Amino acid sequence: MKVRIAKTSGFCFGVKRAFEIALREAKMTESGNVFTDGPLIHNPQALERLQNQGIKILEEIKRNIKGTIIIRSHGVSPERRKELEKTGAKIVDATCPKVKIVQSVISQYAQKGFYVVIIGDKSHAEVRGLLGHANEKGIAIQTEYDLKKLPSSAKLCVVAQTTQNKDKFTLLSEKIKERFPEALIFDTICETNRNRQEELKDLCNLVDAIIVVGGKESANTRRSVEIAKSEGKPTFFVESENELVPDKLKDFKEVGIIGGASTPDWVLSRVVSKLEKLKNHHDWKIEAG
Ligand code: F3S
Repeated sequence: MKVRIAKTSGFCFGVKRAFEIALREAKMTESGNVFTDGPLIHNPQALERLQNQGIKILEEIKRNIKGTIIIRSHGVSPERRKELEKTGAKIVDATCPKVKIVQSVISQYAQKGFYVVIIGDKSHAEVRGLLGHANEKGIAIQTEYDLKKLPSSAKLCVVAQTTQNKDKFTLLSEKIKERFPEALIFDTICETNRNRQEELKDLCNLVDAIIVVGGKESANTRRSVEIAKSEGKPTFFVESENELVPDKLKDFKEVGIIGGASTPDWVLSRVVSKLEKLKNHHDWKIEAG
């Protein structure tokens, strides 16, 4: 068996930046009181590493918190930011600059009277934060059915969750355009993410099965699973090397492996090393790209 590793695997720019900011703050904060507003990264192994550096997840908002609170790469709504500021802690904003751009497009158009439509998962932290910038004049949609919820007459500004599946965004934004020809559509899917999705599709054409490595809670990793399945490939979603089942892989001639934007390199390396060991056993060949 041959194994191909996707070049776009691993931490994206925004996640890497937030991770480094958190580690830097942990070193600088004498009290060791560094909190993240929710899990910094949707990956259990990365969270464990942060925990080992004394970085904790903020459990509740209360007054007089001594220390630092880090805003995640997903960003927050203006209301949430105010609540965090009221705690008295030092606030360090690790919002990904690309998410900030989407927040600013939303605020700008909401102020001009547009109704904001976010194509994304309304339960995801990034989308909740983005909606907050729409000033109560917005909605998150995920399916064609949700299109019924759009106001019958309004000026629409449409954006995407940065990790949105490109095909879904294209489909829904085209449907919106049919009904609201004047709607302004901003494709705000992150480039990093788009490249990962495209590489994954190419990889699917080259291999017989795909292994997606990443946290089960990670939206972009789950999207990779969705894409690989929709390309008709047998897909194995593993959080670590321990979840690999060699017997299920042994009949494939060629397997592709891809890590999500929140999958640390060291987790991916462990999966690859386990495959390396199995390779000796099963006569597999591993190569990048
Ligand atoms: Fe930022 Fe794109 Fe990552 S928006 S957090 S660089 S997926």
